[in-house]
Amino acid sequence: MKERLQTLQQEALNKVNQASTLETLQAIRVSYLGKKGPITEVLRGMGKLSPEERPVIGDLANKVRESIATGLDNKKADLEAEALEKKLETEQIDVTLPGRPVSVGGPHLLTSIVEEIENLFIGMGFEVREGPEVETDYYNFEALNLPKGHPARDMQDSFYITEELLLRTHTSPVQARTMGKYKGNKSLKMICPGKVYRRDTDDATHSHQFTQVEGLYVDKDVRMSDLKGVLNRFAKQFFGEEREIRLRPSFFPFTEPSVEMDISCKVCHGKGCSVCKQTGWIEILGGGMVHPRVLEMAGYDPTVYSGFAFGMGTERIAMLKYGVDDIRYFYTNDVRFLSQYYKA
Ligand code: DAH
Repeated sequence: MKERLQTLQQEALNKVNQASTLETLQAIRVSYLGKKGPITEVLRGMGKLSPEERPVIGDLANKVRESIATGLDNKKADLEAEALEKKLETEQIDVTLPGRPVSVGGPHLLTSIVEEIENLFIGMGFEVREGPEVETDYYNFEALNLPKGHPARDMQDSFYITEELLLRTHTSPVQARTMGKYKGNKSLKMICPGKVYRRDTDDATHSHQFTQVEGLYVDKDVRMSDLKGVLNRFAKQFFGEEREIRLRPSFFPFTEPSVEMDISCKVCHGKGCSVCKQTGWIEILGGGMVHPRVLEMAGYDPTVYSGFAFGMGTERIAMLKYGVDDIRYFYTNDVRFLSQYYKA
């Protein structure tokens, strides 16, 4: 029995030495040390031994078992270290390889344009105000001299939520809201950028949702020449000093008189070309002197206060400034388009 154990030990350790994978080691462990292995078998047969032999063989069997287990453990550690070594070798990082470029985002073109406009007007003493996008019929229309049934309401097809609530069709209600807050006691010089909504079919120049910038100046002696001066400064700073402006008579229910402002065409400088449809001018915004009814409804005495107002489509002026020919580019967020306008 002693010999049998010694042979087993020798045999097992030889196999362990030759093993080259962790799987083989595991198989050796099971076949020699497992419950059905030869060592267990030897131990089971101990009953047949004499009482003197029993402890000697028992002791030997345990030593053999331990020696095989240690052999297995050592070999396992060796194989694992070897595997790690190999892995480290094959997974070496070449720090001299050129890095992958990291793409850096930037502000959306509309965001930068609004910021630019805000800065221009802040420079002329205007404050930036905001108003809600879900607006009441009263502020969106009535307070702007567009009573129910007024035909000019048709100029702005609306998304109504209830009879009295709608998505604002323009930023002009912010004029009425802000004036209403001060109830005729304060001069006001504000702009309001924001989203507006109209029931239009989307195409290259229309969108059911777009953005506007509204302007309002109310004080005791505001004149049409102030409007012209402010808009002229804005146009030159925004589009370039060489650009000229002109005001044409127009109609808006909330201003009287009303104007539309054109800037000279940047391609032909007013001579006429295909960009400006041979007119030499391109329309950029509407404005005028705040209608006395609008002042009155907001609590301002029109015999004491006067004001001017204007409103422009942000996308439209961005399109003119950067030669963008489809308004949908602003909303489809294709990075190839947007990244052209990122500012450092
Ligand atoms: N609210 C007008 C629109 O959306 C634009 C506008 C015209 C605003 C004249 C004004 C204004 O403040 O005075 O078409």
